[in-house]
Amino acid sequence: MDDWTLETWVRWFAYSSLLAEPPAVWASTSVQVALITKILKKHGVRKGLLLDAGCGTGRITVALAEYGFDVIGVDISPKFVEVANERIARAGVETKAKCVVGDLRRLIEVVKDLRFDAIISWFSSFGFYGDEVDKAILRNFAWVSKPHGLLLLDVENRDSVLKARGFQTSYRWTLEHGDKVLIINTKYDPWTSMDKGKADVYEKSDEGLKKVAEMSLQFRLYALHELVKMSKESGWHPVEAYGDWTGGEFKPDSPRLVLVAKRA
Ligand SMILES: C[S@@+](CC[C@H](N)C(=O)[O-])C[C@H]1O[C@@H](n2cnc3c(N)ncnc32)[C@H](O)[C@@H]1O
Repeated sequence: MDDWTLETWVRWFAYSSLLAEPPAVWASTSVQVALITKILKKHGVRKGLLLDAGCGTGRITVALAEYGFDVIGVDISPKFVEVANERIARAGVETKAKCVVGDLRRLIEVVKDLRFDAIISWFSSFGFYGDEVDKAILRNFAWVSKPHGLLLLDVENRDSVLKARGFQTSYRWTLEHGDKVLIINTKYDPWTSMDKGKADVYEKSDEGLKKVAEMSLQFRLYALHELVKMSKESGWHPVEAYGDWTGGEFKPDSPRLVLVAKRA
């Protein structure tokens, strides 16, 4: 698959939405937003325009708008964006937030002249394409940032992922929600830190499990020092890192890697 993100997030939105916002991640949204707003405040962003880059169905967009920020969300999946704008309307924050369909690889065409006080890439919305394209996305973030704007990049911490898998290269896990079961098989390549595979999607019925889709998956798993280097080469100055959504110190086995950088 040339462009797995178009297939998985756009074509199979009804199933990939489970990966985009699993119930356990939804449940801790308020904790995540508390960390985001704490970091923004710490670095002097108390108001202004934020970009939610890879906004999904608006989980973080709505919460930041309710907090008082103006927010533009961008996502490649038209269905996710439709749901996000419905959520924005339901929350009554239409004057503060809006989500639009767009590809972060062509972000400048999407946001045109808008420049942001901070760019939030939250819950593994980065790392889908490998080093070269991921770096181009970081450069796009720098381009659409105001001078001294802030970047918050939240991804899985590679070393903790590998530890949790017992350092095996092949990994299989299951995600079950309602009548859907996703069986995910990936293979990690230690030469590139790319984790590639597929999710087989099944629906439960009286006759048992029926396969309804097969989605490609591809994630570049990043270590902190790699994101530090990549961000420095893309117009950012890294300033701090956190290791979980409560704002804990970053350690080699921290579950998350939240990198905070300032526009260089
Ligand atoms: C794991 S989800 C996270 C969603 C959201 N940030 C959250 O925290 O709820 C990743 C999102 O990235 C979006 N995405 C993937 N590739 C993209 C691209 N090239 N441009 C814009 N969005 C993209 C997907 O459609 C999906 O909504």
